[in-house]
Amino acid sequence: MRRRAPLSCVALLLLLVPLIGFGGLRQQGTAQRRTRILMGGAMAAGGMSQAGAAGHKQYSQVADYAGYDGGATFDQPETLHSAARIVSEGAVSIEKALKAGHKKSKLPPGGGPPKPLCRNYGQLPKGIYNQASECPAWGQDFNCIEGERPEDRNPELIEQEYRKIFRPHECDLPKWDPYGFEKCLKGRRIIFIGDSLTWQMYNSLACLLAPVTANGTAVTWDKANTTVTGDYKGREWPESRHILKQYWADVKLKNGGEILVRCFGRYNASLWDDVFAEMGPLTDRDVIIANFGAWYPRFNFNEPRAPFEAFKADVKDLFVDKLSKYPAQTFWRSNSPTHFGGATGTFTAVEEGLPGVPARPKCEPAAVGEFWFREHVVSVLKECGAACAKIRLMPIFDMTLARYESHHGTFGRGKDTGFTDCRHYCVNVVDWWNIVLYSIMCF
Ligand SMILES: *[C@@H]1O[C@H](CO)[C@@H](O)[C@H](O)[C@H]1NC(C)=O
Ligand SMILES: *[C@@H]1O[C@H](CO)[C@@H](O)[C@H](O)[C@H]1NC(C)=O
Ligand SMILES: *[C@@H]1O[C@H](CO)[C@@H](O)[C@H](O)[C@H]1NC(C)=O
Repeated sequence: MRRRAPLSCVALLLLLVPLIGFGGLRQQGTAQRRTRILMGGAMAAGGMSQAGAAGHKQYSQVADYAGYDGGATFDQPETLHSAARIVSEGAVSIEKALKAGHKKSKLPPGGGPPKPLCRNYGQLPKGIYNQASECPAWGQDFNCIEGERPEDRNPELIEQEYRKIFRPHECDLPKWDPYGFEKCLKGRRIIFIGDSLTWQMYNSLACLLAPVTANGTAVTWDKANTTVTGDYKGREWPESRHILKQYWADVKLKNGGEILVRCFGRYNASLWDDVFAEMGPLTDRDVIIANFGAWYPRFNFNEPRAPFEAFKADVKDLFVDKLSKYPAQTFWRSNSPTHFGGATGTFTAVEEGLPGVPARPKCEPAAVGEFWFREHVVSVLKECGAACAKIRLMPIFDMTLARYESHHGTFGRGKDTGFTDCRHYCVNVVDWWNIVLYSIMCF
């Protein structure tokens, strides 16, 4: 039995900004924003002050919001982009925030005083944990606690970041319960398809589900038990350039539920078909969790046209030609923000390729997220209409936007190239994506 309430609840909450002032600004037709996060009793500005910010406009109130789930799933005006609230121990109360002059929402009440669950770190999926010692062999990648260089280890920051919890405004997310998740997945399959960010989400889930897992395999694609070993070309790529087939995992839960993971950088219809052919027929019990985007940056020095144009065409093909035809439920995981701190706030090979551009020492708050990805996805869904009713959005962008200090680059990984990894996240952030999955899939 599935109830609809939690998704609309989660989604709605992600979109409400009762205490948090945020500004939308426009630059070359793209909405941008500043975010503020509530943290440790202080109002911390999480917004990046950046060139062009001068023209930004304060929105004291988000527009009325018709609902997120069912029917209105993608009717979100762009001004509704909002910040997630991150509340850590001792967070300011709503009253204090109001006294400090923060705007009160006209949207339906429900925030109220901080909810007991959210002040209780027991709600954290696992709290502060070390993947190396606490996760199974098939959930070991992307470990922030094991920084690559000793000088990059930062136990205080780990402690601070891993204690932050995501707390939606209007309702509480369900408490993570591996047994509840297992029950929900009985006789079903979760099929993760995407790039390394999807791999991260899988790794976190593998960790969170350890108590209910029978066995698993997680390998790089070249070591996988798969017949999909050929080369596939990315749209608009030269013939000689092939899509990187990255990771592969199969996990079986004790009750027979399965998690299948197939990670590759870009969508290609033949690759997609070959991967699905190997998994056997889909049923309405299957859940596909899909996302692409990291390999389609807004700009790329090496590509004649913005890779984002290829993203647009690929998403449309994927939704219309594939996902809309399946009996399975699809969740499109919204693209996660990056915090490279460049002129656009995103990773751009343009910046990296320019002579004299200094190495990035750390990740920066971002005002300019990669949320144009979402806008395109929404327009494809709208156009597709009822045919795409089985494709739903899994909103993780906003809840992740403020977490610029929980990237791998902050803890050493990905610094070797001189360009700190401000794309991948530590499990403390990604665990919450799985909580959202739990809430939209199982309640
Ligand atoms: C788990 O999978 C591995 C690799 O496929 C296999 O060697 C091992 O025997 C399996 N263990 C169990 C308990 O099924
Ligand atoms: C490899 O995949 C095939 C086909 O899916 C399956 O029958 C076989 O059991 C797999 N082998 C291992 C070692 O997992
Ligand atoms: C997908 O890959 C195949 C095999 O390399 C190639 O023939 C096809 O053109 C690719 N699709 C696109 C849209 O590039």
